[in-house]
Amino acid sequence: MEVLIRENQEVGCLLAAKIIARLVREKPNAVLGLATGRTPLRLYQELIRLHRDEGLDFSGVMTFNLDEYIGLPHDHDQSYHWFMQENLFRHLNLDPARTHVPDGMAADLHHECRDYEKRIEAAGGIDLQLLGLGRNGHIGFNEPTGSLRSRTWIKILSEQTLNDNSAVFGSLDQMPRHAITMGVGTILDARRCLLLAFGPAKVRAVEQMVEGPLAAICPGSALQQHPRATVILDENSAAGLQHADHYRWIDQNKFEWQRHQ
Ligand code: F6R
Repeated sequence: MEVLIRENQEVGCLLAAKIIARLVREKPNAVLGLATGRTPLRLYQELIRLHRDEGLDFSGVMTFNLDEYIGLPHDHDQSYHWFMQENLFRHLNLDPARTHVPDGMAADLHHECRDYEKRIEAAGGIDLQLLGLGRNGHIGFNEPTGSLRSRTWIKILSEQTLNDNSAVFGSLDQMPRHAITMGVGTILDARRCLLLAFGPAKVRAVEQMVEGPLAAICPGSALQQHPRATVILDENSAAGLQHADHYRWIDQNKFEWQRHQ
């Protein structure tokens, strides 16, 4: 894992935007895996700015989102379809036919899961998968103890995730308890993974993911096996890492061509 510790979320998100922008410039038909949640919001704002002010062109880009709640209509303001439209898609020159979010309203959810995998495969696989990290170590909606080789499937959200995400639904009862998510195996197939985690609430999950054992109790730890995973943290989320000095040392001693900026 490449662990990059930055002074705050702002700097971390700008770095992530730079990495994605470089990929889109180098490969105009890049396939991006995207995430929702609070973590990537600032990164998405920066991509929108780069498109508007610097002409970053998304017309050939294809996207696949990690997950979607089951049972929420696409125009529900807490659905991930809606989240992506509002926070990214409608501000870029993406072709709507090239954006993909799992359909949590599909009549046949099993078919939708299998079909999502096929669509990713038909696109030639994901070039870069963006990820956040749950407080319980989840990536996508792959909750603790789920298989580290899972494929896109229907998952039951953990109590911790319900508690963490229910505020925006008004109450726990309003929140779906199930989601479709890319599996950990699907995520690991991406050619590159870029995970962002900021703030003190993520300390323990970051510690387990980076320095804990490879274990299904922390699905994020599966990234330890990925050949090209970059983790961007801020000082708060990195506070529990025992080897923070080592990550900073590695970061400072990179060849110029290994640097992201
Ligand atoms: C979102 C997703 C989740 C979030 C995670 C962190 O598509 O897959 O794994 O990345 O729950 O959420 P935030 O960013 O809100 O802290």
